[in-house]
Amino acid sequence: MKCAIAIAVAAAALASAAATPAKIVARASSSAASSATGTSSGSLPTVTVKGNAFFAGNDRFYIRGVDYQPGGSSGAADPISNIAGCTRDIVEFKKLGINTVRVYTVDNTANHDQCMAALAAAGIYLALDVNTPKYSLNRGDPGPSYNADYLQSIFATIDAFAKYDNTLLFFSGNEVINSDNNTNCAPYVKAVNRDMKQYIGSRGYRSIPVGYSAADVESNRYEMATYMNCGTDDQRSDFFAFNDYSWCDPSSYQQSGWDQKVAQYGNYSIPLFLSEYGCIKGPRTFEEVASLYGTEMTPVYSGGLVYEYSEEGNGYGLVTISGSSVTEESDFQNLASEFSKNQPSGDGGYKSSGTPSTCPAHSNTWEVTAFTGDELPAIPSGAAAYMKSGAGKGPGLSGTGSQNAGGASTGTATPGSGSVTAVASSGSGGSGAAASAAASSAAQALMAGEMGVAPFVCGAVVLVSSLLGASLL
Ligand SMILES: *[C@@H]1O[C@H](CO)[C@@H](O)[C@H](O)[C@H]1NC(C)=O
Ligand SMILES: *[C@@H]1O[C@H](CO)[C@@H](O)[C@H](O)[C@H]1NC(C)=O
Repeated sequence: MKCAIAIAVAAAALASAAATPAKIVARASSSAASSATGTSSGSLPTVTVKGNAFFAGNDRFYIRGVDYQPGGSSGAADPISNIAGCTRDIVEFKKLGINTVRVYTVDNTANHDQCMAALAAAGIYLALDVNTPKYSLNRGDPGPSYNADYLQSIFATIDAFAKYDNTLLFFSGNEVINSDNNTNCAPYVKAVNRDMKQYIGSRGYRSIPVGYSAADVESNRYEMATYMNCGTDDQRSDFFAFNDYSWCDPSSYQQSGWDQKVAQYGNYSIPLFLSEYGCIKGPRTFEEVASLYGTEMTPVYSGGLVYEYSEEGNGYGLVTISGSSVTEESDFQNLASEFSKNQPSGDGGYKSSGTPSTCPAHSNTWEVTAFTGDELPAIPSGAAAYMKSGAGKGPGLSGTGSQNAGGASTGTATPGSGSVTAVASSGSGGSGAAASAAASSAAQALMAGEMGVAPFVCGAVVLVSSLLGASLL
């Protein structure tokens, strides 16, 4: 996200994902009542990845959503544990006709049952960032921050949300890289993504997609996309998303350059979507919605998330929240109208199979010098045990923080070391007890003698923000 004044606040932002509302709502309504108090959030079909698209059951699923961050990026509040807020805002989500919200921060010790059930009843999925301001990679010095305490927190967040059918996907990171001179963070971002996938598989959860949300930085975005989709199966992301503010109304598919972004990613083999969009330089009529869900883009893109639901002082809000009341801004109706007019049908021309990308070579804009090609940091040894035993109770939003906690990675991973080698016996992904399995250990993952020093200094120090992919608004 970008904003007029670069303030290094932290990060989290919300996102939303959307699907085909009418169908989802219909399915959800039958189960809404029964799900109100349970841990299951109703009968929304779980979303899976096929080729370069998402599917809900047999139907192509397009993310049609908003970023949901009431309180702003510096607040680090958990909107999914706030039942009053959630109830208040779902009324507006339904008016918008969305099927997804992105949430940038949650408290992994809080209860989320009621809000998740209410979202499901409204046909809405959750796209969730697992990082918090205190538990995240430090883009200024990523090596030490990729440690066991950090992974324990994000694994605990997975535990807290894997049980909900309407958990759409997890973002492993948000805008960690925001400049060419911190592209050296990329191996850490990708290692975290790998570890999350391994944790989900090892704990016996369903295959909830895991991927990264990249900043709107033209010079290295394509490299990052190919990087997250290269290497061995265990290393590769389930999807890729990026933030894009290049379409400013009045504009067009060509004028915005979105046509180029379709051409450039035409062979990309995993789902791709916009994790934030909605330029505010123009009148904000949301003309881009017609392109995003139109036949020129659906073969390559799976929708996106408008930044952002509530006004937080940066001009991007679709509504203004005041206590229990919500006031719709003028662009709210524009967006609702565009969503309602643009509902793709059929499979949108997706590709059912494709070829993974080739890892990017070193260049002026891709300054990865340690862990080159498909090399990645090994999982920190203290974190490998979580695959078998579960992460246990998370630190929530008030823990002491992980960035300087010690217990960092000490070597290079063996390709394939992130594969799931054993699955916990509680197939439904229970809370952690009965794991009968042993996932690949950190010891196996280490390659002796390849420990590097350089990787622990990642390019430039970036402002103050140590937060998770702390975006600069
Ligand atoms: C996609 O693949 C085709 C066939 O291999 C190739 O001709 C084309 O250049 C590729 N496009 C991109 C953007 O890489
Ligand atoms: C890194 O690049 C950004 C521009 O993208 C620049 O503002 C910043 O000063 C650079 N940092 C260093 C340490 O060179």
